[in-house]
Amino acid sequence: METYSFDKSYEMFEQAKKYVPNGIYGPRSPLGLTFGSYPCFLVKGKGSHIWDVDGNEYIDYMCSFGTNVIGLCNEEVDAAARDQMERGDAFTLPSNRWNEMAEYLVNLIHGQDWTAFAKNGSDVTTYATTVARGYTGKNKVIVANGGYHGAHFWCSHATYGIPVEYKAHILRFDFTDLEQLRALVAENKGDVAALMLTPHHHPAGSDQWLPDASYYAEIKKICQAEKMLLILDDIRCGFRLDIHGSHVYYGADPDMVCFGKAMANGYPLAAITGKEYLKEAAAATFFTGTHFFSAVPMAASLACMKIIERDGIIPKIFALGTKLQQGMEEQARSMGLEISYTGHPAMPFMRFIGDDDFSRNRFFCGEAAKRGVFLHPHHNWFVSGAHTEADIDRTLQVTEECFRLTKEQFYK
Ligand SMILES: Cc1ncc(COP(=O)(O)O)c(C=O)c1O
Repeated sequence: METYSFDKSYEMFEQAKKYVPNGIYGPRSPLGLTFGSYPCFLVKGKGSHIWDVDGNEYIDYMCSFGTNVIGLCNEEVDAAARDQMERGDAFTLPSNRWNEMAEYLVNLIHGQDWTAFAKNGSDVTTYATTVARGYTGKNKVIVANGGYHGAHFWCSHATYGIPVEYKAHILRFDFTDLEQLRALVAENKGDVAALMLTPHHHPAGSDQWLPDASYYAEIKKICQAEKMLLILDDIRCGFRLDIHGSHVYYGADPDMVCFGKAMANGYPLAAITGKEYLKEAAAATFFTGTHFFSAVPMAASLACMKIIERDGIIPKIFALGTKLQQGMEEQARSMGLEISYTGHPAMPFMRFIGDDDFSRNRFFCGEAAKRGVFLHPHHNWFVSGAHTEADIDRTLQVTEECFRLTKEQFYK
């Protein structure tokens, strides 16, 4: 198989560093991928495919870290956005889309009675903790070790430049260990406002863990006994597992749910939903942002959510993701390579057993990128409704070669 070169990408990366600290920051930096084996800049995308500045084409399994649930440049979503754009986007007051969007979302998401909108996932996870503190009059928030809830100070994984006080009220437990959670709650009795969880555990660089309904039944008991709220951070899983919210998929009954990413197929929009009894506390909580009210992402989101429902996107993603998983597991097995492929088929994570420094994963994913399949070595992947059977077949040809190369390189 021919492999790509990335001359223009890395030349542009050097140029970027002249003007932007680190050139590219966050998880999109080539330093967080396999340096030299991935492109740095993209020029266009269509459906499940993306093209870089060197003219290389990829089947994209990162979907802009989860936003592109029905694919890039979806004609219906973009037509809805364009139609709104012709009438304006950022108004002095909310647009007529505001009520349409709110009513649609509240009716769509099971067991939730109100909503509010923002831009990034971090906006709504922070807002949810503030509403919970206002409502309960308590300060502490419990999250899972390895759980990601955004880049704001209270939940950021970083420490540089962040006063420790910002994290003073955040407690952590192991997602799978309910005994540990019970002990943490007992130690902090009377102080815990909320437990924030992702629907299933999807930490970066680790196996994923999928709960069953009994997990959430226990969570409910613990929350009720301590009078603390359950906030579900559905920002990554949302609109991939169940159109009515991932809590329906896992049998949870959250007090508030946070959405972002896939809800507008790449247009910038996040939302929170909540139970009726929290509406007053939500109204009392200061919440705003200059771009929170823009109309174009709402028009795009309405179109996107309707397509997901109408076209059976979620079962389609499940079937494609299952085909990818079965194919890769079979390839690894037949070559005698031990891998761990975990998570929901719509957003899986793969690693090589014993690959503690991730060198095998970085090599494997880097070789795949050089052959036109964009996987991430540390982060879960995303299958979208725009992927096709042909994409999966082509991907499996590439992964077969990459497993073979990884075996040659690391298992002598
Ligand atoms: C589960 C989860 N919560 C919150 C966030 C933060 O969202 P954003 O980056 O839009 O602020 C992310 C982003 O990756 C996420 O995956």
